[in-house]
Amino acid sequence: MSVTKPLPHDAAPLHVTGQARYVDDIPTPAETLHLAFGVSEVAAGTITALDVSEVRASAGVVAVLTADDLERDADTSPSIHDEPLLATGEVHYAGQALFLVIADSHLNARKAARKATVEIAERTPILSIDDAIAADSHFEDGPRLYEKGDADAAIANAPHAIDGTLEMGGQEHFYLEGQAAMALPQEGGDMVVMSSTQHPSEIQHKVAHALGIPMHGVRVECRRMGGGFGGKESQGNALAIACALGAQLTGRPCKMRYDRDDDMIITGKRHDFRIAYRAGFDERGRVLGVEFTQYARCGWSQDLSLPVADRAMLHADNAYHLEHARILSHRLKTNTQSATAFRGFGGPQGMIGIERVMDHIAHELGRDPLQVRRVNYYAAPEKTGPGTGHRYGGAYSPGASKARPIPDDIDPASRGAQSEMPPDAVPKPPAGVQTTPYGQPVEDFILHEMTDMLVEKADYHARRKAVAEWNARNAVLKKGIALTPVKFGISFTLTHLNQAGALVHVYNDGSIHLNHGGTEMGQGLFQKVAQVAAARFGVPLEMVKITATDTGKVPNTSATAASSGSDLNGMAVKAACDTIRERMAAFLAEYHQAEPATVRFEDGKVFVGEHERSFAEAAKLAYEHRVSLSSTGFYKTPKLAWDRIRGEGRPFFYFAYGAAVTEVVIDTLTGENRILRTDILHDAGASLNPALDIGQIEGGYVQGAGWLTTEELVWNDKGRLTTHAPSTYKIPACGDRPDVFNVALWDDENREETIYRSKAVGEPPFMLGISAFLALSDAVASCGAAYPALDAPATAERVFMTVERVRHGV
Ligand code: MTE
Ligand code: MOS
Repeated sequence: MSVTKPLPHDAAPLHVTGQARYVDDIPTPAETLHLAFGVSEVAAGTITALDVSEVRASAGVVAVLTADDLERDADTSPSIHDEPLLATGEVHYAGQALFLVIADSHLNARKAARKATVEIAERTPILSIDDAIAADSHFEDGPRLYEKGDADAAIANAPHAIDGTLEMGGQEHFYLEGQAAMALPQEGGDMVVMSSTQHPSEIQHKVAHALGIPMHGVRVECRRMGGGFGGKESQGNALAIACALGAQLTGRPCKMRYDRDDDMIITGKRHDFRIAYRAGFDERGRVLGVEFTQYARCGWSQDLSLPVADRAMLHADNAYHLEHARILSHRLKTNTQSATAFRGFGGPQGMIGIERVMDHIAHELGRDPLQVRRVNYYAAPEKTGPGTGHRYGGAYSPGASKARPIPDDIDPASRGAQSEMPPDAVPKPPAGVQTTPYGQPVEDFILHEMTDMLVEKADYHARRKAVAEWNARNAVLKKGIALTPVKFGISFTLTHLNQAGALVHVYNDGSIHLNHGGTEMGQGLFQKVAQVAAARFGVPLEMVKITATDTGKVPNTSATAASSGSDLNGMAVKAACDTIRERMAAFLAEYHQAEPATVRFEDGKVFVGEHERSFAEAAKLAYEHRVSLSSTGFYKTPKLAWDRIRGEGRPFFYFAYGAAVTEVVIDTLTGENRILRTDILHDAGASLNPALDIGQIEGGYVQGAGWLTTEELVWNDKGRLTTHAPSTYKIPACGDRPDVFNVALWDDENREETIYRSKAVGEPPFMLGISAFLALSDAVASCGAAYPALDAPATAERVFMTVERVRHGV
């Protein structure tokens, strides 16, 4: 069967030979125009003069548009309509688009964009978390609170307590293919848009709105992205809308791509966070009560910040059973790029808070942090087979969560928006099962066994001893080691997004045309889903044609995000294939006077009793007998019931697990550091494709480690991003991957009924990178008695400064 095979990415030969076609590679029709934005260099203020006459006069320029030239308002926001395409009087961040240049070439458009005369009455920008707190600048009416038990009392009564603060930076997506779009005007005012987007339906919706036409007048297509990482959930909207407006105005095709610097200056990034914590604990390190105050720097517009901040709250427990927890979340509005989705979607930020607490407690008690982690793990479930999980019912467990309702008026368009559920629609968890701080039972906790296996495979205990011995002998180079677990919730927290559609055709030569709502960004979704289709029909993979995502084929799709691409689209494709298969089986059974249940699709053939024929012959025969060989398929995730306002229910269908051990060495004279060895054990359920899944785990880990180590975003005091190119922003290179890198899959079925019992794998491994950060902290800790309280990113400078602090006991 084609599922579970470690097949290469379907486009791998195209990727490595340069033949894979991205938006910028699509041959442009004659007369195509090229677009560029003129952007603000000021972070906050009011536009007092915007003179574009020199821009208009610049070589090759066909048109220049300011907000005043637009017939109707064009908005790029994925949530609450707070992002005008072009600034309407007020400027909110350095990099905001002020006007749009339409020219005969990319270069001419960019040159012209620099020639405007702009006068802005500047205001003092709100840039940092401190600025925003001082100015009380935030989204929503106030902070959001999820609470379980009585954290205050538990901390006050605990034998030991710690508190501290952790700062962590944002992250640039650095997809290799920058943002790009092309709009092709059609007859009657219709528009076809090619977009590098994780969310074609959103592009369709926003373009239709900007053009003032129904969604049926816009068709959006995306064959692939050269990486998205969350940065193409919403950040491609502006380019697509600009191209469509340009095409509507001129009647000519319009294309736009950002140069790397523009891309970094204009688009949103990962949210940087501050997390303040307090924890009370016992002699063994068991957390008795914990309080987190999370501050998320959201930038100038709301974008997806509310659901990102929600997901940070939902991962404040990570792998640990917290009986008394108080999680407070501030969503701060600042004059910076609008922070957006990035692999993990707030989960990594939330998770690192509790990992810091575990590390800090261990330091306080002088214990191995792994011991402290294990003491706090959720309980292992009683052994049950896959899919036999508890159903909700029975009594409400005493530790169930309660959240203070905080009024708000959130548009339901974003991923974690206001629940419309009546309060009693959230099922009560069963008694006797440990629950998260938001009341979801943790029924499938496999990290005990996974940790045992990883400890053994990585030889953790012996290496921890060896590290201590090394550190006792060496004054300059210090080593550190850390094991951290991941428990990541799978599903969109805005429940209605957990749906998907597919369209499958079987042609009368037996070849299969496959389409679904998911997008390909390098993660291998198209291959996995094609494997599902081939398996349903029992045919070799070559018979399945993977086709571009197209809003004209499958409508009303969700973003390919929340790691749920293969869970959702795999199931929708299965449904479509099975409909066709059942029709073929019913027909062939009747044809041969047999029972439909006896018809088998295997080895490229169809068997009915003693009759057999090739799948192609079966398709031809069915066609000749007028059987429909085309079908849609649909899937919606079961069991979800979540109230984000009360912070209660079951936001996730299931959890994906993983654990990593990282060993590092630091140079205490310079702060320079290296990852020496990484061992990972990761849970992808019954993997649909182990080769692709291991690729996701390796890439995710390295990207996570990059976020917490070398990737540093710096804004100057005017709010201008000074790290806007690879010369100043350091992503991991080949040489930064661990010298020894062992990745293994925890091969066990998902206990929930997902596609072939697999698990989502796109985002969870990102958070394994936390082990690199805590290994660095461990190395620093060997320099003195004080707890390092290392902040992220742990750049060489920061490691050096922290070593100095620890050495001098400050
Ligand atoms: N892998 C590659 N190569 N490129 C990407 O852009 N995006 C990540 C992850 N892995 C990404 C990737 C993110 S943010 C998500 S949500 C998932 O892939 C989306 O795809 P999936 O749902 O099919 O896993
Ligand atoms: Mo991924 S951040 O959900 O696109």
